[in-house]
Amino acid sequence: MIVFNSIEEFNKAKENFDSLSFVPTMGNLHRGHISLIDNAKEYKNKVIASIYINKLQFNDSNDYLNYPKTIEDDINILEKHGCDYVLIPDESIIENILNIKAPSKSNKLCGQSRPGHFNGVLTILNKFFQIIDPEIVFFGKKDYQQFVLVRDFILDNNLNIKIVGVDTVREDSGLALSSRNNLLSNQEKIIATELYKALKDIAINKTNLNSNLINLKKDHLKSLGINVDYLISCDPDSFEECYKINKKDILVAIAAYVGKIRLIDNIKLTKL
Ligand code: PAF
Repeated sequence: MIVFNSIEEFNKAKENFDSLSFVPTMGNLHRGHISLIDNAKEYKNKVIASIYINKLQFNDSNDYLNYPKTIEDDINILEKHGCDYVLIPDESIIENILNIKAPSKSNKLCGQSRPGHFNGVLTILNKFFQIIDPEIVFFGKKDYQQFVLVRDFILDNNLNIKIVGVDTVREDSGLALSSRNNLLSNQEKIIATELYKALKDIAINKTNLNSNLINLKKDHLKSLGINVDYLISCDPDSFEECYKINKKDILVAIAAYVGKIRLIDNIKLTKL
C-alpha cells in the first residue's frame, strides 16, 4: 500500500492511476470501515482510502480535540485488507476551501442537534472528490442521512461518481459498530443494545406503524435511562415524518445518549 502524506505527493502519482474506488474515513478504523474496503475490493478498480479528521464537521471543539487518533493502527488495518493507497492530508486541505451549503433537509434528524455538521461533511468531500476524482465512492448506511446527502450532492452537481451504500456492521448483540462504542463502559454497552432492539420491534410491528408505536418505544428507552435525541419514522429521501408504508419504504432512525455518548442507528422498513 502506498501512503500519501500530502495532496502534492498524491497529485504527482495520480496521472499514472486508472479509475479509483474511494473510501473516505476519519480514521480510528473498525470492522464497519473494513466492510467498506471489502466492498470496494469487489470492483475492478484500485482502492484508495483517506484518513482526515475534518474540523469543519464538528460543532463541538472538545469532540474534535478528543476524536481518537490511531493512525499507525489504521494504516496497518488498511494494508492488511488490501487497500492500495491511503491519502492522509495535512490541514492545508481546508485552506481556501469552497464552502458547500447542505440542503435544508440536512437540518432534520442529526442536523437538529449538530448545526452545520453536514455543511462541513459536504465541503470536505467535495474537496476530496476534486483531488481524487473517484469513479466509485463507498459510504456506510449507519450514517443514513450522510449517505443520502452525499448521494444527492453527486446527482445535483452532475458529478460522474457512482455511490455505493454499505450495510451497517453490528456486534453479535446488535449494537451498530461505531468508533464511539469504545467510549462506553461495559454496562453502557449492554444498555446501548436497546437501540437496535427498539428499531427491530418497530420493524416487526410495521403493519401498525404510527406515532403511538414510536412514542411507546421512546418511553421504553427513556425508562432505561437512555436520553433519546430523536426516534422518528420518516420518508427515507426527505426525512419528513411519515407512517405510510404502503407506497414507499420507510426509514426509522434514532439518535440517543447512553451516558454521555451519542449513538445513532436506523432500520429501513420495506413497503407492504
Ligand atoms: O463518515 C465519516 O467518517 C465522515 O463524515 C467522512 C465521510 C469521512 C467525511 O469527513
